[in-house]
Amino acid sequence: MQRILIIEDDQTLADYISLVLKERGFEVAATYSGAQGLELLRKEKFHLVLTDLVMPCGISGLDVLKEISASKIDVPVIVVTAFASVDTAVEAMKLGAFDYVTKPFNVDELIITINRAIEVSRLKRENAILREELRKKYSFKGLIGISPKMLKLYELIEKISDTDCTVLITGESGTGKELIARTIHFNSPRAQKPFIPVNCAAIPASLLESELFGHEKGAFTGAFSTRIGRFELANHGTLFLDEIGDLEPSLQAKLLRAIQEKEFERVGGIKTIKVDVRIIAATNRDLEELTRIGKFRDDLFYRLNVVQIHIPPLRERREDIPLLLDYYINEFSKKMKRNPFEFTAEAMEHLMNYSWPGNVRELRNLVESLMILVRGNRVNVSDLPERFLTRSQSPESLRITEREEFEHYLLQGKDEINLEKTLYRIEKALILRALKKAKGTKSKAAKLLGIKRTTLIEKLKRMGLDQENTENE
Ligand SMILES: Nc1ncnc2c1ncn2[C@@H]1O[C@H](COP(=O)(O)OP(=O)(O)OP(=O)(O)O)[C@@H](O)[C@H]1O
Ligand SMILES: [Mg+2]
Repeated sequence: MQRILIIEDDQTLADYISLVLKERGFEVAATYSGAQGLELLRKEKFHLVLTDLVMPCGISGLDVLKEISASKIDVPVIVVTAFASVDTAVEAMKLGAFDYVTKPFNVDELIITINRAIEVSRLKRENAILREELRKKYSFKGLIGISPKMLKLYELIEKISDTDCTVLITGESGTGKELIARTIHFNSPRAQKPFIPVNCAAIPASLLESELFGHEKGAFTGAFSTRIGRFELANHGTLFLDEIGDLEPSLQAKLLRAIQEKEFERVGGIKTIKVDVRIIAATNRDLEELTRIGKFRDDLFYRLNVVQIHIPPLRERREDIPLLLDYYINEFSKKMKRNPFEFTAEAMEHLMNYSWPGNVRELRNLVESLMILVRGNRVNVSDLPERFLTRSQSPESLRITEREEFEHYLLQGKDEINLEKTLYRIEKALILRALKKAKGTKSKAAKLLGIKRTTLIEKLKRMGLDQENTENE
């Protein structure tokens, strides 16, 4: 059962709220002063505190908030305030109150706010624990990800790490092919021996052969001395053949022999050199398709494709997105000596729905650039680069038109009779209208409405409008 602590100097009101909450299934303790409330809070565990803001004698609601935060008591606080003291409510929010309700309040709204506060605080706590556990458990040897697809990958990596088998890693650009190749090597019995990467696409074909196999002095113009190739350098270790799909046909044949026989000659040499090398190859191209159309030798393909590790693109394992963001925020904040930031719920929604064509590399780069560009510790939608902002089909755009219709309807005066509800709706409609006129500039909108900018911001927050329809000034 959820336990709520009420701090309210108006005893009649305190008992009334207590009664109402008990009826709704909460366990309630009512106290009639800040001091009494704090005393009980130190002794017992509550899921939520509902405190009056203005209590003339002794400790005020603000003091209660300060004390809770100073003694690091983990409990969400909702403050109750009279309409006249909304500015103090703003102050309360700054001190860490979850939300505020104005007197006289609507019981249903209060219950909704309470439930939301309890839920959010539960999620926060769970998240913190989960994150810690995940970091320990599921960051598998430096690889971040907890999606079922990644967990399967970890299992596979574990299985093949202590073998010598050839591995073909496939996956789009930026999915972590090289990272996984290194992980396999550094968890294999060859870990103490070299890991030698060769990028088959980056080196011109004419040079690649000597790069791989080395050359003898005088083998070709410019070969002034004997050179050891990557195959030899990788002896007893792992040779990582990156972008293998881009390999020239003539080299494909030579590579096949070297892998198969574990021997080769240097360019211009006659001595056969024997090596003991584990091969890991990677490509972002469809090797099977290349084989079908005759661009890649099928015997080489089968030789490489002993165990295939396919890394799924990020958009197919979206549950890893928050984890990776979190990981890189941590990394870069340490590296750059900056405070870590958080994404607003709306910004996160955009990140979760984005297609991530550049996969983890793109995500990493995003976090790095935000760390440099964004001041403060919250990243809003407006801080994200253009490409994240296409929201043509998002439910958000629908909600905006709904609101406009709603506004239209209200101002025609066909609404219900309940005064509080109607006033609230009219207030909301007017605020929206002012924002529209002011083209989203809050200070202008506040002027049009004849209220302070801070008051407007607080109202927007309360109405859940703080992220949309407005621009940061
Ligand atoms: N699961 C992961 N956890 C943490 N970091 C990751 C993960 N996957 C990829 N990265 C990071 O993303 C970046 C890109 O990874 P990597 O270079 O291995 O990708 P790739 O598949 O080889 O890309 P390309 O095809 O473009 O060469 C690197 O900084 C890497 O550390
Ligand atoms: Mg790579």
